[in-house]
Amino acid sequence: MTAIRKLLPFEYPLYAAHLTRLTPEERACRFMGTVKDAAMEAHVRDIQRPGNFVMGAFVDGWLRGGAELVVTSPVTPSLRHGEAELAVTVEGAHQGQGIGGELVRRVLLASRNRGIETVHTVSLVENLRLRRIVSDLGGEVKCHYGMCEGNIALTLPTQVSLIEEAMDEGAAIVGDMLDRIGWSGPREEVVAALTPAAARNCNAAVRADNVVPLRPERKPEGVRG
Ligand SMILES: CC(C)(COP(=O)(O)OP(=O)(O)OC[C@H]1O[C@@H](n2cnc3c(N)ncnc32)[C@H](O)[C@@H]1OP(=O)(O)O)[C@@H](O)C(=O)NCCC(=O)NCCS
Repeated sequence: MTAIRKLLPFEYPLYAAHLTRLTPEERACRFMGTVKDAAMEAHVRDIQRPGNFVMGAFVDGWLRGGAELVVTSPVTPSLRHGEAELAVTVEGAHQGQGIGGELVRRVLLASRNRGIETVHTVSLVENLRLRRIVSDLGGEVKCHYGMCEGNIALTLPTQVSLIEEAMDEGAAIVGDMLDRIGWSGPREEVVAALTPAAARNCNAAVRADNVVPLRPERKPEGVRG
């Protein structure tokens, strides 16, 4: 099961451990250069500032992906003009399953709800996956001299976007708790004893509660342009 939610302050060492599990190639894609393990820990300490956050992807309880948002220009009292940089990583065995895309979608939703107006990404020109994620989510990607900059413009938060974030976070926390007690849905004989309609609802409820929908099909509401 994959649960995506914001990391709590005491979980940041898990994020440093995730970053140190990246291969040298993945580290180079993420940090645009060679980075040693000790520098990962320093980086994680450095990003723990007000306004910043890390969205984590827990696969069967293990942190296998993370997307960090670092505010570069604070939000004004009118809830505008905030800018931030986003970086995302998923460990090799878990790539290509939609986790990176879902992490970025969730960071954009949370950024919008905090009044951030523009989110930037930086990547190497050959990083087709990140470029795809940014353009799928409504961003613009411009490349020069081997580097690409992504810009995603967000709209103001609404009641719906705030509720959406709260529901996403709540579902992930409940999923985490169920995972810890080893619950993987109702037992087959329980479902078999239900009427066909109830069994269908039951299975649908399990899917809705327990599985984070990955692979967003379209540009999320709230991305301008
Ligand atoms: C970039 C990264 C986070 C993507 O994570 P992921 O979980 O593999 O991404 P997803 O599974 O959501 O796939 C993203 C998109 O790339 C597409 N994709 C996969 N391989 C591709 C390729 N070779 N060419 C073009 N697109 C490709 C996928 O089809 C998907 O698009 P879709 O949803 O429209 O089908 C991951 O590869 C990673 O951690 N790389 C190392 C660190 C890094 O480069 N970070 C980005 C810089 S900050």
